Amino acid sequence: MGRKSNTKGKEKRLARKEEQARIAASLIVVKKANELTDPLEQFPIFRKYNNSGIDCNLCIKKFGSLDDNTKMWAFDLTKRNMQHKYESCSWGWSDGKKLEELQDEAAWYLIAQRSDGKLLGFAHFRFDLDEGIEVLYCYELQLESHFHRKGLGKFMMQILELVAFKNNMKKVVLTILKNNSDSNFFKAINYQLDESSPMDDEDEDTPYEILSKVNKKLLPQSQQTNGNQLQPVSNNRANLMKAMHDHGGHAHGHCCPGHHHH
Ligand SMILES: CC(C)(COP(=O)(O)OP(=O)(O)OC[C@H]1O[C@@H](n2cnc3c(N)ncnc32)[C@H](O)[C@@H]1OP(=O)(O)O)[C@@H](O)C(=O)NCCC(=O)NCCS
Repeated sequence: MGRKSNTKGKEKRLARKEEQARIAASLIVVKKANELTDPLEQFPIFRKYNNSGIDCNLCIKKFGSLDDNTKMWAFDLTKRNMQHKYESCSWGWSDGKKLEELQDEAAWYLIAQRSDGKLLGFAHFRFDLDEGIEVLYCYELQLESHFHRKGLGKFMMQILELVAFKNNMKKVVLTILKNNSDSNFFKAINYQLDESSPMDDEDEDTPYEILSKVNKKLLPQSQQTNGNQLQPVSNNRANLMKAMHDHGGHAHGHCCPGHHHH
């Protein structure tokens, strides 16, 4: 008789405990971010965008703090921009579903508005766990068509990245529709296929992809490259040299969009 040591079981239990502890820690990071009153407070220069004929203000609010006019406009703009794209793939469009998503109490809004009151665009985002990892998930980025291609979308995504990484999110994540040519915008601003993006199987093409940008501040030093705007300037040159060495001469540490295989 006696007692056999069950090393495998022990290892499994330990791994499970570690995973649970990690998720609990991630949840605390998410909760803390959701308790912010104004995520833009630390980036006052990002409260204004004045470029290419656009002069507007930016603010970040929870859905509940938006006025009714802004709430209605956000839904209406999303419908105008997206309904036909959803309907031309297997997703289909439902007013009810989209409203529910936009009104979720976890929803944060970045709003671009001119001083004459004209609403130009918005991003809907959430601090959340995604596959057990703390992320800023961008649910929507919608601009009025008259204001496309003037750099505002890029500026708004920069704000989301600053806010995400300042608050220790590990990535900014978003879902794009493959049939939406505007999705190329995200590849142009260096979003890469995320490891959680589904792979097409033989009989079914998924209509969407998941893209992300990682918080390089949280990567091990060996994986940081000069693409990281958030690291101290003094590190940049050394990291660039190392990145070029590690990646066979490419200054950017990651694969080109579209060349990422899992
Ligand atoms: C996608 C969207 C938010 C982009 O915002 P934007 O302000 O027009 O984009 P920017 O001017 O900041 O573009 C930055 C760069 O991205 C690239 N880009 C932007 N739109 C693009 C498009 N439709 N196709 C390919 N590349 C694009 C370009 O390289 C551009 O730089 P350039 O104008 O100097 O060439 C905007 O087009 C939009 O609201 N579209 C409708 C809604 C939508 O499809 N949203 C995305 C899915 S949720």
